[in-house]
Amino acid sequence: MQKRDQLYEGKAKIIYATDDPDHVIVYFKDDATAFNGLKKDSIFGKGELNAKISTVFFKLLAEHGFPTHFVEQLNERELLAKKLEIIPVEVVVRNIAAGSLVKRLGFSEGQLLPCVIREFYYKNDALGDPLVNEYHLEALGASTFEQLSELSRQALEVNRILRTFLAKHDLDLVDFKLEFGLFHGQILLGDEITPDTCRFWDATSGEKLDKDRFRQDLGGLTEAYAEVYRRIIQG
Ligand code: TMP
Repeated sequence: MQKRDQLYEGKAKIIYATDDPDHVIVYFKDDATAFNGLKKDSIFGKGELNAKISTVFFKLLAEHGFPTHFVEQLNERELLAKKLEIIPVEVVVRNIAAGSLVKRLGFSEGQLLPCVIREFYYKNDALGDPLVNEYHLEALGASTFEQLSELSRQALEVNRILRTFLAKHDLDLVDFKLEFGLFHGQILLGDEITPDTCRFWDATSGEKLDKDRFRQDLGGLTEAYAEVYRRIIQG
C-alpha cells in the first residue's frame, strides 16, 4: 500500500492517506503534550514504543474477537489502520482513582473504585475536551444515545480484556481513554492504546509507568514505556 498525503496532524500522531480509500497510515511522533497542549516536549523513542505497545494491545483485542481499526504494524513508527469517520467523543474508563477524578471529586489517589466509572468527553480542542453526558453529545450532534450505549459497552469489554491481561504482567490498569469511529457504518475502536492514553501502575510498588511521568515531571518516561513493553510481550 502506497503512502499518500498527510490527512491530519494531532499532538502525538500523524495520519496519512494511502492509495486505498479504506486505509490510513498512523505515524507515532516523539512529541508529548499535556494540559491541552500547554506543556510540550519531544521525547526520543516514545513514538516507536507507542507504535509497538499499541500493536500488542490491538492484537490482544483481536485474539478476543474484539474488532478494531488495526490492520498491521508497517515499521517502527507506523501502523496500517482502517480509515474511520471519527466520532468526536473520548470514552474514559476508570478502575482506580487518579488524575482528574481525584482533583474534581475528592477521591484518594490509588483508591480502588467500588464500581467501574465510565465518562464521556467531547473531543474539541478549542473547548478543552469538556466532560459531558449523553444529552450534551446528542444535542451537539456528536453521537446518538444508541451509539453511546454501544461505545460504553465496548469500553467495558476492552477494560475486562486489558485488565485481566495486564494483571498477569504485574500491572494495574488504573484508567484509560478510548476513541471510536465508523467504518462503513460499523463502530470500531480507533486511535491508540499506549501509556499516553492509559495509566499503568506497577501492581507491587505502585510506580507510575505512563504519561503521568511527563505530566508530573517525574522523569524516566521512555524507561517506563520500555518497561511496559518488556512486560506485555512476555508470554
Ligand atoms: P484524566 O484523569 O486526566 O481525566 O485522564 C483519564 C485517562 O484518560 C488517563 O488514562 C489519561 C487519558 N487521557 C488521554 O488519553 N487524553 C487526554 O487528553 C486526557 C485528559 C486524558
